[in-house]
Amino acid sequence: MPKADLMEKIVSLAKRRGFIFPGSEIYSGLGGVYDLGPLGVELASNIKRDWWKNIVEKRDNVVGLDSSILMNRQVWHTSGHVESFADPLVECKNCHSRFREDHLPKSGSCPTCGKKEWTESRQFNLMFKTHIGPTEEAGSETYLRPETAQGIFVNFGNVVDTMRVKIPFGIAQIGKGFRNEITIGNFLFRVREFEMMELEYFTYPEKAEEDFEYWQKERMNWHLSLGLSRKNLRFREHESDERAHYAARSVDIEYDWPFIGSQGKPGWGELEGIANRTDYDLKQHTKESGKDLSYFDDENKKKVVPYVIEPSLGVGRMMLALLIDSYSEDKDRVVLKLKPALAPYKAAVFPLLSNKPELAELAKKIYLDLKSSIQHPIAWDDRGNIGKRYYSQDEIGTPFCITVDFDSLKDSSVTIRDRDSTKQNREKINSLASKLRKILS
Ligand code: GAP
Repeated sequence: MPKADLMEKIVSLAKRRGFIFPGSEIYSGLGGVYDLGPLGVELASNIKRDWWKNIVEKRDNVVGLDSSILMNRQVWHTSGHVESFADPLVECKNCHSRFREDHLPKSGSCPTCGKKEWTESRQFNLMFKTHIGPTEEAGSETYLRPETAQGIFVNFGNVVDTMRVKIPFGIAQIGKGFRNEITIGNFLFRVREFEMMELEYFTYPEKAEEDFEYWQKERMNWHLSLGLSRKNLRFREHESDERAHYAARSVDIEYDWPFIGSQGKPGWGELEGIANRTDYDLKQHTKESGKDLSYFDDENKKKVVPYVIEPSLGVGRMMLALLIDSYSEDKDRVVLKLKPALAPYKAAVFPLLSNKPELAELAKKIYLDLKSSIQHPIAWDDRGNIGKRYYSQDEIGTPFCITVDFDSLKDSSVTIRDRDSTKQNREKINSLASKLRKILS
């Protein structure tokens, strides 16, 4: 399938089936802002749950945090974001459209009017400004955070003091970030408001390189464990002139997108970034706040300012990669081959015929019992014919469809149909919950 068609199909499916809606749609939308619909919020929360399990819960040296979006504006001066978190902006002299200079097409023509007359490029800061309190004076100004990481750095001392952590250890956080991107587009790929999953891993300076390698492998394995194909993923080391102002080394896990990637070429573009932020942030905050953010290393009896290895990933970008990777067309049906743990609904329950109350009654009981026993969303459908119901669930990735028929009334069994193989088996009603639990674990 041509790659452009694939994107169009995914955007349409996402809207039609309640995954992703354009933000403020009834007022003609808002550029670079999307809302998650009922199925999108389930997919996103399944991704976040898996990330949290993998990064925090299964490890004995990573703790969580949920810091505020609004921070003292001094944070953003100290971190270097006010000065350096900027992209090069050019304006077309003919139609006045503005673009990121490094995102212009190779031809150098204006994507709006086709002319090639540009202003000199200038640095455009990506942070959204806001004001605290009732007046909009210079002193009341701050920014919506463009990364969650700074909330972790300013709480480093609090976590060390309260949690008896020993380096190497990590602090993980999931939360919203805001960037006034110049070029938006490609659906969820580059937006202005997005959720991020970030880990700041504090380690000995001399171990930083080894830990960087470790986290690269860990993160790639996580993407594979969620079902992304290996052939669509690769590592790419940043050149020294493309690294963020705080990074001594950066490697992206790139995905082979069906559109122009972040390097201005078709295909490969950043999915997740892994950076070695050195001791840059902790040293900067120590210097500007006057609070010592070093760590006392009991074993070696000396103070250390740890180095930081940071894997950072956008929830929306991950959702988009999963939708693209799992989308398939199979004869006359569309199937989202999502891993069951990620699927918005874990199963759907139907009565074979909707006009037979005895079937509907048993099916409803199974539906409600499953919902309360496995505590995951289960779909209910009694419209149209059974074939249409199957296709409707395939399209949103529901792994199993359970149908109650006349035999069910006699043998306490149901037909269970597998999304990917379309094979159907009989299963005892009282074993359904344990079967689903096993698949989800
Ligand atoms: N704290 C590190 C940091 O912010 P980044 O590479 O700028 O690093 C991390 O962003 C991740 O956030 C990216 O790998 C991508 O998954 C996601 N991301 C960044 N900008 C985004 C945007 N405008 N829209 C959607 N996701 C974005």
